[in-house]
Amino acid sequence: MKNFNNYVEKNRKENLKFESIVVHGANGVDPTTGSISYPIYQTATFKHHGLEKTDPYNYSRCINPTREELERTMCILEEGNRAFAVTSGMAAVSLVTSLLNPHDHIIYSDDVYGGTYRCVNEVLEPYGIESDSIDLTDLDLLKKTIKPNTKMIFIETPTNPMMKVADIAAIAKIGHEIGALVVVDNTFLTPSYQKPLTLGADIVVHSGTKYLGGHNDVVAGIVVVKDEQIGEKLEIQMYINGAGLGPMDSWLLLRGIKTLALRMTKHSENAMKVANFLRNHPKVEKVYYVGFEDHPNYATTIKQTTGFGGMISFRVDNLETVNKLLTKVKLVTFAESLGGVESLVTHPVSRTHTEIKEEIRQALGITDTLLRLSVGIEDADDIIADLTQALE
Ligand SMILES: Cc1ncc(COP(=O)(O)O)c(C=O)c1O
Repeated sequence: MKNFNNYVEKNRKENLKFESIVVHGANGVDPTTGSISYPIYQTATFKHHGLEKTDPYNYSRCINPTREELERTMCILEEGNRAFAVTSGMAAVSLVTSLLNPHDHIIYSDDVYGGTYRCVNEVLEPYGIESDSIDLTDLDLLKKTIKPNTKMIFIETPTNPMMKVADIAAIAKIGHEIGALVVVDNTFLTPSYQKPLTLGADIVVHSGTKYLGGHNDVVAGIVVVKDEQIGEKLEIQMYINGAGLGPMDSWLLLRGIKTLALRMTKHSENAMKVANFLRNHPKVEKVYYVGFEDHPNYATTIKQTTGFGGMISFRVDNLETVNKLLTKVKLVTFAESLGGVESLVTHPVSRTHTEIKEEIRQALGITDTLLRLSVGIEDADDIIADLTQALE
């Protein structure tokens, strides 16, 4: 197994701060040429140097230097020992859930991204894996839901779109008592603000499409693990399913990550202003933002994260306001996805969460008057002015 401990140790020894690591990545410059921008090794295959020689690189489905630099960098940022860069966030979720076997049981957040819900219901369930989706902010409920065959607890925190915050350390403790793997989807806060592996989780997944890439120009996924044996299993899976991220997309992610810390600060500052604006708007009934002190899980947020991020959901007074807002916004774009520099607004019921059954959506509060806003890094006053005219 490739072990990235040397890189992790090097960064720890040099005592580099997060803001420096994101800019320089694991290697800093290309060791062979001195190129400041890490090269894009756009090749499918590599020359063998002789029958007796073991070459570090052979075939890009299995290993590619640009992807490797991204994986090492993510290892350092998430404080793991092994990372995998794959073709999408869903490829990352699929890779991790491939650790489960028929008759195993997975418990997952009730209000996860629709694609994760679909993965459980349309891939894992038919494959013979049992599942329960529950409110993971309720630890008693978690304990009651555990079965002798529970092998994985999959946490999304904050959840998409209801912004519920689960206590990662407490769930990890409960999960480990029964020998289950604890997985955290860290897409919304990124290691800038939340490091699940340091809180006891075993595996972190990301939609790299979102804040890591940061520019709405690449689809990617990341998995980071602590344990070597789990890393080895995932490595084999990755060779087989062939979902390794291509060199160009790996480079785009590396470039995006350089500004991750800066962007997260601006996303959060803007989101706080926009959330407060929305909260005081007469057509807005409720705002879901983890940075509000009266958010039901604020104590957990403060305990385990260092920032609030740029995601807000809000409920407006009626469907007419939803329609008006989505057609009238100019600076903000009505589009799926999140985490990029551009502000995007979406309608979870008709876009990102269509696969979740109507009664479940209603129970969770994902109704047709709910909107999800990914606050970009434009000027906050411009975003607020745009929303003001769109809500008129
Ligand atoms: C929290 C979360 N996890 C995973 C995914 C899936 O990522 P991708 O679209 O890159 O496959 C998404 C996509 O929106 C997401 O929001």
